[in-house]
Amino acid sequence: MEFQDVVSTLRAMRRLHPDPVPEEDLWKILDTAIMAPSGGNTQPWNFVVIRDRATKEKIGEWYLDAWDKTYGPNRDAMKADPNMVRTFNSADHLANNLADAPVLILVTRKTDGMRLGTMGGASIYPAVQNLMLQARELGYGTTLTTLHMWHEKEVKELLGIPEGIETVALIPLGKPKGKFGKPARIPAEKVVFWDKWGAEGSRPE
Ligand SMILES: Cc1cc2nc3c(=O)[nH]c(=O)nc-3n(C[C@H](O)[C@H](O)[C@H](O)COP(=O)(O)O)c2cc1C
Repeated sequence: MEFQDVVSTLRAMRRLHPDPVPEEDLWKILDTAIMAPSGGNTQPWNFVVIRDRATKEKIGEWYLDAWDKTYGPNRDAMKADPNMVRTFNSADHLANNLADAPVLILVTRKTDGMRLGTMGGASIYPAVQNLMLQARELGYGTTLTTLHMWHEKEVKELLGIPEGIETVALIPLGKPKGKFGKPARIPAEKVVFWDKWGAEGSRPE
């Protein structure tokens, strides 16, 4: 695939086929993830690749609990909002079917005693993005999710993750049921300033 096609069709794909993902593909995805930059080249990441059904189900229960607590009270409002209903339904589907994703990749970060702030995040999310881009190039759907953090203590206990490591993203991965499409984004013209805040540019004719 052309680079531009990979990037411009990387979107949250929450409806996934349960077919297993070949290990060769997972290694390629993870080899790309670890090429990301990090502050001082500290490479604070680890990746826990979860395929075991019972483990996925347990994490799925916690994820659903967090989903219900976060979005449950707004359910009717979300469903009535034309701008939100699609994302809501898709996220609701994922929350109710997380264990059916063939692979969950939990990305963790060595904290050195510091909880994830902007600086800490800056050293881990490039790896997450690399991972998702490589998955997309291979035809896999992913979603960057964080709701498991409501139950981070339990997730860490279940997976034997030691002190000094925090979880930063849980990425369900599998072949998507739907088609990859261009995500809705505010055009660059509206968010880019040139030399000075507020100074919009124009593209060459
Ligand atoms: C920091 C972060 C946290 C997110 N957490 C969740 C989540 O817990 N569950 C979920 O379904 N999507 C989650 N998302 C996915 C966003 O909803 C998604 O990227 C956004 O709606 C854009 O979707 P699109 O690329 O399909 O347009 C998260 C994304 C980011 C960047």
